[in-house]
Amino acid sequence: MCGIVGYLGTRQAAPILLDGLSKLEYRGYDSAGVCVMSNGELKVAKSKGRLATLSGLIDGGRAIQGTFGIGHTRWATHGAPSDINSHPHIADAGKIAVVHNGIIENYLRLKEDLVRKGKHFQSETDTEVVANLIEYYYDRLQDFPRAVRRAVGQLEGSYALGILCQDFPGTMIAVKKESPLIFGFGEGENFIASDVPAILKYTRKVVYLNDGDTVIFTKDTARFYDAFYDPVEKTPETIDWDISAAEKCGYDHFMIKEIHEQPKAVKGTLSPRIRDGRVVLDDVTLSKEYLEELKRIYIVACGSSYYVGCLGKHILEKTCRIPVEPILASEFRYSEPVLGSDTLVLIISQSGETADTKAALMEAKRQGARTLAIVNVVGSAIAKEADDVIYTWAGPEIAVATTKAFSTQLSVIYLIALYIADLLETIRPEEYDTIVNELLKLDQKIALCLTNDNVQKIRYYAEQYFKVHDAFFIGRNVDSAICLEGSLKLKEIAYIHSEAYAAGELKHGPISLIEEGTLVVAVATVDSLFDKTMSNVKEVRARGADVFGVTTEKHEAEIKKTVPSVITVPATHPMLQPSLTIIPLQTFAYYIALLRDCDVDKPRNLAKSVTVE
Ligand code: M6R
Repeated sequence: MCGIVGYLGTRQAAPILLDGLSKLEYRGYDSAGVCVMSNGELKVAKSKGRLATLSGLIDGGRAIQGTFGIGHTRWATHGAPSDINSHPHIADAGKIAVVHNGIIENYLRLKEDLVRKGKHFQSETDTEVVANLIEYYYDRLQDFPRAVRRAVGQLEGSYALGILCQDFPGTMIAVKKESPLIFGFGEGENFIASDVPAILKYTRKVVYLNDGDTVIFTKDTARFYDAFYDPVEKTPETIDWDISAAEKCGYDHFMIKEIHEQPKAVKGTLSPRIRDGRVVLDDVTLSKEYLEELKRIYIVACGSSYYVGCLGKHILEKTCRIPVEPILASEFRYSEPVLGSDTLVLIISQSGETADTKAALMEAKRQGARTLAIVNVVGSAIAKEADDVIYTWAGPEIAVATTKAFSTQLSVIYLIALYIADLLETIRPEEYDTIVNELLKLDQKIALCLTNDNVQKIRYYAEQYFKVHDAFFIGRNVDSAICLEGSLKLKEIAYIHSEAYAAGELKHGPISLIEEGTLVVAVATVDSLFDKTMSNVKEVRARGADVFGVTTEKHEAEIKKTVPSVITVPATHPMLQPSLTIIPLQTFAYYIALLRDCDVDKPRNLAKSVTVE
């Protein structure tokens, strides 16, 4: 969603802001803007559309001189994407400039009040209300920090704010509540940003602000305050991943780069947690006594992370013999889940900032359930709130469509399953050893799915099918769960109507939609269910569907009797098979999107981290 960058230093601010915003493009946006303080004036440039348009307007930043500034990419919530609704917003008398991520829920009431008090508004946004509210208090108090504090005290909703005041040229104030914001320490310069890639070129020393935090900073100093406005010391964390992790490095898109990074990401997530053939989860405090009392596990997440939860149900129930229920985070709070100290709530989120997922986590905590989060972004809100956190070491994921984060989340599910099953003794020791051995080979097998030959073959099939209007993904058991993710990939990046069904369910309704030229992606890797899935494949073939089949090498000859377009993946332990099956599905969606000329990394209407409910 929206992206914020702020800079105070001695270099020209605008090019730094534009560069930083370009590293946040992955978050999704529809307009962009910068405000630079120059000779006591707040100079603003903003425009609807891509960052390149804004950059063109201000000659790559050279047209606005000044060494202090704030920049923003906006994902419209209040008011359509337009020049006027773009951030930064300047208050009525021109003294305050604000960039904002999040939603001010009581903005209409505040706006009416400010209008009564004589403030004029240009835009339809909630953010302009914040700028005017701060200016209103500033005019009365003549104190920038106090004015911000008074105004923020009246805001309801979520916000990450970067604020400049015309009368305080070298000072910026940033405030965070329920929207991500980091502070970056430089040498004679300081930064704020929504995410690390925006400032990684300039500093590796960052602080992840907590909810309620305020930072008042100059180029040389930073004073932090907590939610009670008590001064707090913050020790910077050092970012240890390389800038190349957030660059395309020769690939055409982040998505294909991240698809190819999966062997490394999966290895990086698994291998530190497998020692001497045993799964070791150092950060998790689930005791045998606690697990023995456990009645149920809920897996709560959104989108692809939820689909990891659907796979998790199969994996954890089979291995640990505990009932597992995956629930969409947006539904969790309203479904009156049965929670208590005998319930474990597993929260899955790449970004760690998804509003629905965070709200579900808070509800689970409120009702006394233990929470364990699987998160990719260190220091994110969900990581901070959960009782325990297992990080997926996928590195920064930039493409909106998740690939490597999905694979690493799934890897963590395997680890949790083995860890619990071992403590509860619900797994035979030989089975445990077999799975651990296969886990250690998983990265190599994923790499085999991505050989040049395989990728070219998938590309060839994408060329056969990229013009379809409708697609159905079918499979049974874990294949059915992986179909959900394969289908989501196709719809979100290639804009093809696509649905996923348990193969056995087709005949109960959806088969009426199958006609000449409908694409059916049939996933058939579960040995014991292969013949049954093939019966369903024959049913759709008989009705004219084109079928793209995904199976293991062992079933290749058999499936080819019915289906001409087949891609095979190596076999592994059945529990781990989804980690291999998903690779051709991601790659297939990527090439189809490319052939349809879609903006693969930044699909329309989507955002990388969804911080509104
Ligand atoms: O950051 P999160 O894992 O919480 O995000 C959840 C979903 O928004 C995310 O998986 C979304 O569905 C992706 N676009 C899928 O590619």
